[in-house]
Amino acid sequence: MRILALLGITFVTLLVVIHAGTAGTWCYDSQDPKCGPLHWKDIASHCGGQNQSPINIVRRKAQRDKNLEDILFEGYDQAPTGRWRLLNDGHTVVMNLDGASTAEQINITRGGLDDVYRALQFHFHWGDLNRNGSEHTIDGKQYPMELHIVHMNAKYKTLNEAKGHPNGVAVLSFLFKASDADNTNYNTIIAGLKNISRPEEYVDLASTFPLSNLLPNMALLSKYYRYKGSLTTPTCDEVVVWTVFEEPIPISKPQLNAFASTLYFKTIGVAPLKMSNNFRPPQPLNSRKIFASRDATISGGPSLADSQIFLLVLACTAGWLSGPFWLP
Ligand SMILES: *[C@@H]1O[C@H](CO)[C@@H](O)[C@H](O)[C@H]1NC(C)=O
Ligand SMILES: *[C@@H]1O[C@H](CO)[C@@H](O)[C@H](O)[C@H]1NC(C)=O
Ligand SMILES: *[C@@H]1O[C@H](CO)[C@@H](O)[C@H](O)[C@H]1NC(C)=O
Ligand SMILES: [Zn+2]
Repeated sequence: MRILALLGITFVTLLVVIHAGTAGTWCYDSQDPKCGPLHWKDIASHCGGQNQSPINIVRRKAQRDKNLEDILFEGYDQAPTGRWRLLNDGHTVVMNLDGASTAEQINITRGGLDDVYRALQFHFHWGDLNRNGSEHTIDGKQYPMELHIVHMNAKYKTLNEAKGHPNGVAVLSFLFKASDADNTNYNTIIAGLKNISRPEEYVDLASTFPLSNLLPNMALLSKYYRYKGSLTTPTCDEVVVWTVFEEPIPISKPQLNAFASTLYFKTIGVAPLKMSNNFRPPQPLNSRKIFASRDATISGGPSLADSQIFLLVLACTAGWLSGPFWLP
């Protein structure tokens, strides 16, 4: 009897502990669907808003905007003198860039941005061995991984302050494509993953490098899509000017696998889980518009090619001319 009571108390205690552990925390479906993206709005109301990210970019519906000229990248081509700290934050791997002296701040401006935005950090979203893991999709196609470089409007002092204003944050998004050869520019980051497999662990990289090393050839960055959306993790604030580049970054399968097999998520259940499929699925576009830069592709995808439309019109006209053939 005493043992039963004791068991009962232990059970109730366990339930309370487990419940307290998940309340207010969010996760991806790959960790536990009970705290996955469908439930984020219960702990952060913005996540249920009408202007959420990521989205699927339907290229033939994107609207060309001639004002979307080249973005000016300032400081992207220099290795900062400070150190770079790579952190497993329990949801992703993040490199914090802030803290550099003013002269070394990395910025973006122009390209339809009304202000100067300062780079704060970059991080990734990925899938697993058998699954693509980008957040944005183009014409319904998901890519293996996605890089987000998060910038804050330089008008504001902190990210928290920036989050209180529309246009407070600008994120540059780069999609990855699987390549045969390793992308050696990612070696430093990938080597560092082994040192931060557990949540909260960090490693200071032996050396910094120009941010542009991680990106496609700068000459190809005039092709991008622009829309207004949100952070893709709680609290999902709708304050982000998104730029999704058309040109993907090449990365090899073994390099992709290093992300999906080295790191562990913040534990929400009992057992530690490999950090994989840490992406939010596309959200409804609702009444928003997607704009295409001067050079971006706005055709393609599941639509009829011009030549097919021409033949269709020709066939209909011929049918109409033949008159009675079409009458019941
Ligand atoms: C970035 O902008 C700040 C002012 O907002 C400026 O002081 C700094 O020099 C800029 N960085 C580069 C690399 O031009
Ligand atoms: C996954 O990514 C690969 C490489 O980019 C692509 O060929 C494939 O179509 C993608 N699969 C899906 C289901 O989107
Ligand atoms: C990272 O881990 C490797 C072994 O995988 C070790 O040799 C190296 O010293 C570690 N680096 C740091 C900065 O802890
Ligand atoms: Zn992100």
